[in-house]
Amino acid sequence: MFSVPINLPGTAYSRGVKGGKLVREELEKIITRRRKELLEKKETSPCYTDVLSRMLLLTDENGKFMSDKEISNYIIALLVASYESTSTAISFVLKYLAELPHIYHEVYKELTNIAKLKGEGELLNWEDIQKMRYSWNVVCESLRLTTMNSSFSGFREVVTDVSFSGFTIPKGYKASWSSYTTHKDPECFPDPEKFDPTRFEGKGPAPYTYVPFGGGRRMCCGKEYARLEILVFIYNIVTRFNLEIVNPQEKIVFHSFPIPVEGLPIRITRHNIYS
Ligand code: HEM
Repeated sequence: MFSVPINLPGTAYSRGVKGGKLVREELEKIITRRRKELLEKKETSPCYTDVLSRMLLLTDENGKFMSDKEISNYIIALLVASYESTSTAISFVLKYLAELPHIYHEVYKELTNIAKLKGEGELLNWEDIQKMRYSWNVVCESLRLTTMNSSFSGFREVVTDVSFSGFTIPKGYKASWSSYTTHKDPECFPDPEKFDPTRFEGKGPAPYTYVPFGGGRRMCCGKEYARLEILVFIYNIVTRFNLEIVNPQEKIVFHSFPIPVEGLPIRITRHNIYS
């Protein structure tokens, strides 16, 4: 999706192939070690809590285990899908909070109201997360403006002839939807470059105009987990620190995920909401 698949030295594709090989070799060592441990323990129940052990013990309808290669493919896909996406999403929410004091102020108000109803050091619960409406709208607006995946996870097969903007995409063709373009379409999002979390209030954007987690049958299965992770992270930062961006002009490059070239330096100062 992101680079021409010709293995020329120095290209993103070549670096990807090299890195992928190293990761796969390491992963296969871990899989072999864990398989041995489980065999020694005579463990057979797939109800293990860690993903790797579950995969190692799962069998298909014929009692066949997954191969090491299959497992390493799934683990790599899961690592890329879950870790890279969520950490990038968090970085960009912090960037907007550090850049836009009026947005930070509203998030601060919402989150400190929740914090003040709890004892100092008391952990968040599910009801608290449901109260973080404005903060979640801020995350949504950040995901709209900095779309993680420039398209859904890959190509989809067109199952029926489709007419779009005077073109016909015939049945059987492979198509890729650029959610980046949809997210910046002024017909769907008036004044699209403006950071405006109120777009997500009330009914919010029309169906299939806002798709950071994809859509349809292959929609991101980690969406709710990502929401939880991002909101808990932001809560812990905003209720403790003020944020100020160091370089508002910092460039963003795109290596399958958006990356701030200087590492996104942010000046933080501690505050105490209880004093
Ligand atoms: C902000 C965070 C995240 C974003 C923006 C995101 C975005 C996406 C997108 C756009 C897709 C493709 C959906 C499609 O093709 O329709 C996807 C798929 C997927 N995501 Fe996420 N994701 C995030 C977090 C996570 C997390 C935390 C997990 C796991 C814990 C996860 C697991 C997956 C998996 C396994 C798929 C493949 C689903 C399939 O093909 O059936 N994602 N994600």
